[in-house]
Amino acid sequence: MSDGHRSVRRTDYQPPAFLIERVELHFDLDPKATIVRSRLAVRRNPAHADRAAPLRLDGEALTLLRAALDGEEISGNRAIEQDGALVISGVPDAGVVEIENRIAPDANTELSGLYVSRGNYFTQCEAEGFRRITYFPDRPDVMARFTTTITADRAHCPVLLCNGNLAATEDLGGGRHRATWDDPHPKPSYLFALVAGDLVAVRDRFTTRSGRPVALAIWVRRGDEDACGHAMQSLKKAMAWDEAVFGFEYDLEQFNIAAVADFNMGAMENKGLNVFNSKYVLARPETATDADYQAIESVIAHEYFHNWTGNRITCRDWFQLSLKEGLTVFRDQQFTMDQGSAAVKRLRDVRRLRAAQFPEDDGPLAHPVRPDSYIAIDNFYTPTVYEKGAEVVRMMHTLIGPAGFRRGMDLYVARHDNQAVTIEDFVRALSDGSGVDLSRFLDWYAQAGTPELTAEDSYDAVARRYTLTLRQRTKPTPGEAEKRPLPIPVAMGLIGPDGRDIAARMLLLNDAEQRFEFAEVPAPPTPSLLRGFSAPVKLKGVARDRLRFLAAHDADPFVRWDSGYQYATGIMLDMIGAHQRGETLALDAGLEGAMAATLAGADADPAFAAEALSLPSEAFIADQMDTIDVDAIHAVREFLRGALGRRLVAALRAAYARLSDGGPYRIDGASIGRRALRNASLGYLAAAGAEGVALARRQFDGATNMTDVQAALEVLAATDTADREAALRAFHGRWRADGLVLDKWFAIQATSARTQAVEDVRGLYRHPDFDLRNPNRVRALVGAFASANQVRFHAASGAGYRFLADAIIALDPMNGQAAARLTNPFAAWRRHDAGRAALMREQMQRILGVAGLSRFTFEKVTTVLGA
Ligand code: BES
Ligand code: ZN
Repeated sequence: MSDGHRSVRRTDYQPPAFLIERVELHFDLDPKATIVRSRLAVRRNPAHADRAAPLRLDGEALTLLRAALDGEEISGNRAIEQDGALVISGVPDAGVVEIENRIAPDANTELSGLYVSRGNYFTQCEAEGFRRITYFPDRPDVMARFTTTITADRAHCPVLLCNGNLAATEDLGGGRHRATWDDPHPKPSYLFALVAGDLVAVRDRFTTRSGRPVALAIWVRRGDEDACGHAMQSLKKAMAWDEAVFGFEYDLEQFNIAAVADFNMGAMENKGLNVFNSKYVLARPETATDADYQAIESVIAHEYFHNWTGNRITCRDWFQLSLKEGLTVFRDQQFTMDQGSAAVKRLRDVRRLRAAQFPEDDGPLAHPVRPDSYIAIDNFYTPTVYEKGAEVVRMMHTLIGPAGFRRGMDLYVARHDNQAVTIEDFVRALSDGSGVDLSRFLDWYAQAGTPELTAEDSYDAVARRYTLTLRQRTKPTPGEAEKRPLPIPVAMGLIGPDGRDIAARMLLLNDAEQRFEFAEVPAPPTPSLLRGFSAPVKLKGVARDRLRFLAAHDADPFVRWDSGYQYATGIMLDMIGAHQRGETLALDAGLEGAMAATLAGADADPAFAAEALSLPSEAFIADQMDTIDVDAIHAVREFLRGALGRRLVAALRAAYARLSDGGPYRIDGASIGRRALRNASLGYLAAAGAEGVALARRQFDGATNMTDVQAALEVLAATDTADREAALRAFHGRWRADGLVLDKWFAIQATSARTQAVEDVRGLYRHPDFDLRNPNRVRALVGAFASANQVRFHAASGAGYRFLADAIIALDPMNGQAAARLTNPFAAWRRHDAGRAALMREQMQRILGVAGLSRFTFEKVTTVLGA
């Protein structure tokens, strides 16, 4: 790639020339001029080919004050700054390097490295943020033991936190104090963390299975102490689960979590000191929705689980990112499935995969789970690396079973604890531990694109034999014309005419086409394929009558839900065709019947019913079309919601009334399911007419929990009523001081489908409460509008595109990583009609024309344009 941005290739990997045995860091905190002193015990790496190679210390946005080797100042050209590194030559096989440098945390708007958020200090070092703190070999295969001393004003920073265990504290007089933290575990620099400031702790304890006590603390701003209970409960559950299922115990005396309002990502697994976006810590019934509560539980678990899968065993290089992220997402998914309804969790994860990863795999940003090259690694924290990566681990888990997987994980730890390893090492450990050769699954890491699976079958009544032929095909992706067949586990069953299983089996499709025979089949069966979504593929071509049968009868809840979903998708695509031809739309009787049946049986599992009632999203339908027609998709979906609401009005009213329990708010699975079903009913009733809107107004005024308030406000925000304005004003007035709740106020308006949404969003961008420096606020307004308001973002005028480009251009100089992430909605530009495609291309070219564009945004936009 051009423009002075260099790309890194996976096959260019070289072991580091030097290893770091110990690091002693000293921080003298000051918002404008923090002084960092570092003492590195370095040793030449025998695995590096060149025995005379210089020592390379990465550094970015640093002011070097001093560099010394074995006690002597390094002078002249023995140390030169080049290509973002301090390169020191003439370093002996073992020596001590001392560095002193200055940074300005206050001016750090990138939120990478050491920065100030609302007066407190935080760090974010993954992937390459440590080099913005001090000069260091900032790569994950350099694992070192860190000791850190922090000095600061006690008044400003009563709390001084770092990785590991607190070793000493000291009063320095004159209002200064100091803390020393020692981390006994070797770690790469990306897991370093420092938090300092005026925070308060919510404390608890955990005793590990082998009896070691761990002091737990969640650090928040004063006033938020009452909002940490759910996060703490989640942490203790996660700790116990990891011991029970994987035998993984926590390995320090302390475990700290710090919450911060300004954070680029969701959360970060720094050793012993996780740093969290406050959105994934703080929850009160009146401020957080059920979805927020559920997200907190899974993000807390995810970061905690990294302690073994990521921290103790880390990645050799950033191309191996899925080694820790795919595996840890798989682990957090399993954890959540074990906490409540496994079926609902599974179908939600599949929904998410289809909403984000399938389109990525089908467009210009397609890349393998283990990418081959990058300009900015931060652009590769993608649904492919995360969600598809988790599916690949899941397929191996499915094939070898939980016991085999456990033996594989035990072997992985026995072999690789305290190492930085590759995906091959992981797959080899699973294979050797389970006794099943999984090496062919490496192809899943290497090849981009989503395989399409089709099935053909026949039944021989005389021989009582059933034959199933499975085929797979993967379309070309950028730079990869030929695709190999992949190993695809197909969990399946045969269902008899009475709706009962005749057979259940696990098939492994290894080739492009394979035939499977079933003997002693008494009657012509219906095949139920991909039970539990046993592989991340697109199952195509299942006949509509079979989908209806499966939706009604399958023993597997995933296939039951998915068949209904695929059925609805087919109906909607037909209706879109009809709409485009100018025909009038009609409600399909099969769809109405299925929805009526779901409502009638809803009380058995309200959470599942709520999922089954929700129509495929506009984005999902778009992904099924060759040329996306956002207006037709929106018209059809709205028509269906209105028609279903009117036809099922009695059942919906009854459900809404029955589920209004009025009791105290509880966040157990059953209560969450009831609220979900009730709000799904409200949505349909509002789509049907004024009665529903009035109900929403009443719910908005009376509700005491945010789940119900938000659901009602979403309904009202989509209308053009006085109630809309009144409710939005009331909400803002009540919550203007609570940033996380105010984010909802922005997001609800940004995702409202009313026709003036673009102007609304432009107005909100200028609102005094909008803040480009707060990533949550940017996501709530700009991100939500562009990625979750398909019909208005893609307004034919191009106004939505101009708005997004304006925001990206304004944000890029402050926070390139965050700006780059906003570009995703442009990725599907070629799939839209020529007019919209040209408008999107024009805006992307405008972005590329900006002088000094960050490498983050540069890489994303050039890849999307295919330049
Ligand atoms: N290690 C990541 C956080 C991260 C990502 C840091 C990218 C720097 C760059 C962390 O473990 C993570 O994956 N967080 C997710 C949430 C998680 C539940 C999937 C996130 O931040 O979105
Ligand atoms: Zn992670």
